[in-house]
Order: sequence, then C-alpha cells, then structure tokens
Amino acid sequence: MRVIDTVEELKSALANLAATRKVVFVPTMGALHQGHLSLVEKAVAVENAFVVLSIFVNPTQFGKNEDFAKYPRVLEADIELLANQPAQPDIIFAPRVDQVYPDGLPEQLVPRAGAVGSVFEGVTRPGHFDGMLHVVNWFFSVIKPAVAIFGEKDAQQLYLIRRMVKREFADAIEILAGSTKREADGLALSSRNVFLSEEARAVAPSIYRILLETQAAIESDQPIAQSLDESRLALSSLALAKLDYLALVDKSNFQPISAGFTGSAQLLVAVILDGVRLIDNITLSIQEPA
Ligand code: PAF
Repeated sequence: MRVIDTVEELKSALANLAATRKVVFVPTMGALHQGHLSLVEKAVAVENAFVVLSIFVNPTQFGKNEDFAKYPRVLEADIELLANQPAQPDIIFAPRVDQVYPDGLPEQLVPRAGAVGSVFEGVTRPGHFDGMLHVVNWFFSVIKPAVAIFGEKDAQQLYLIRRMVKREFADAIEILAGSTKREADGLALSSRNVFLSEEARAVAPSIYRILLETQAAIESDQPIAQSLDESRLALSSLALAKLDYLALVDKSNFQPISAGFTGSAQLLVAVILDGVRLIDNITLSIQEPA
C-alpha cells in the first residue's frame, strides 16, 4: 500500500497498468469506517484489480454554511486503519487542494448536476452535487479507472454519477454500488455519526426502523400516499428530530413516483437530529395491487 499525494506521482504509478490490471477506484473523503472498508473489499474482489482509494475533502461540494472546516480529517488514522485490513488498496491517493485545484477554486463547475441536483439533498445543499460531480470527474480523468465503487447510502450521488458516466464517459467506467453498512441497531454508518450527542445517537436507529415499516406497509399494498404520510409523521415525532424530506422515487430516473407506478423505487430520507444531518434510503419493489 503506497501513499501518494501528487498527480505526477500517481500518473507514473498508474502508467501502463491498464494493459495488465483493472484499475478500480474507491473515492472517499476519509474518516474511514466499516462502510468504506466494505467498498475496499468489494474493489479488491474485482478480478485482477489494482485498487486506488482517494482521500480528499472536496471544498467545492460544501456550501458556505456547511461543515467543511470541521469535517473530520484523520489521514494518519485512516492509513493505519487500512494497513491493518486484510483487503487493502494498492494506492492511497490523498492530494492536497492545490493538486486538484491548481488555479484556485473554479467559478464554473462542470459537469452540472442540473435539475436532479436541486432536489432533496440539493435543496439544503445548493451546489453540492455540482462540486461532487466536478471532483469525481477530475479523479476519473486522472485515474482512468475501469471500475469505480460508490456507497448506496448516498443514493442521489450514485444516481448522478451513473448519469455522468453515461453522458461524459460513454459508459466506459463500470459503476458498482456498495450496500449500506449499518450499526447493529440499524443506524447507517456515516463519518458524521461522530457528531451525534448521546441522546441523538439513541434516537437515530428509529430512522431506519421507520423506513422498514414504510416499506412493509407499501409492499403489502397499503396506499402509498397514506404510508408516506404516516412515515413523515413518525419521523417528525422523533425526539430532537427535524424531518427534511421523505420521498419515494423511481430508481431509474430519480423522479417522485406517480400514480400507477410499478417497479424498483427508492425511499429516501433526510433528518436533522440535534443539528446533525443524517440520510438513509431503502429500495422497494412496487407491484401492481393484488
Ligand atoms: O461520497 C463522498 O465521500 C464524496 O462525495 C466523494 C464521492 C468522495 C466526492 O468527494
């Protein structure tokens, strides 16, 4: 496992590799947890994989009032954690900001997330998905991976990445999704969980429990609108919780499902729990009522 912090060194480490190995990319912002480690395992399991894991807290995907400054940066601990795993990346690429943005932070971020980037997470985090796509696009063009792996927990991000790969890279990069890893009580793993107070941590697993209850109701043919209303009420009634959104979208286009929809849908939630924003989602199979 080699740690690299410049583009030049990375390019020379990757030169000529594509002919013999499959470059598999795992992008992260560090503060690694079991969720990230499971993505590394998935990457290492790809046949003939040469795994590059990036650690970069990307300034352009944080809004002015967001937690960029206090986002956990624990590079030494991340390196040590990875060094003690059976599945390790071949390269940890942890560039400084001036490697990614040598001319300063750009005014125009490309590609744009468009309308899908302005809903759900995009409402409270305007510009977030433009910054995220910009930096992932940059990593893709430097690393030139054959495969890249993203967590399913960030459903909107995963949708936009797949769309970007289709539009900008002619589907030349295979995108794999890593399933959401959870604490034993159901809370989805997130680098932000460290910010939860003891009281908020005790409430947090209820978010996933409510998603499961909503899934059970919808999949047993309870009317969708009623199930979503009940779910919103249950989430809003949690102690310390402010519900941001709960939505059911068509997985194929990320649009809220309309009447008569059948197929694969995603139930998305964002809750601010004692000041900490938590997101989660679950996949539902919606059949025609019996
Ligand atoms: O999901 C993340 O950690 C980030 O959005 C990503 C994909 C590493 C881009 O900065």
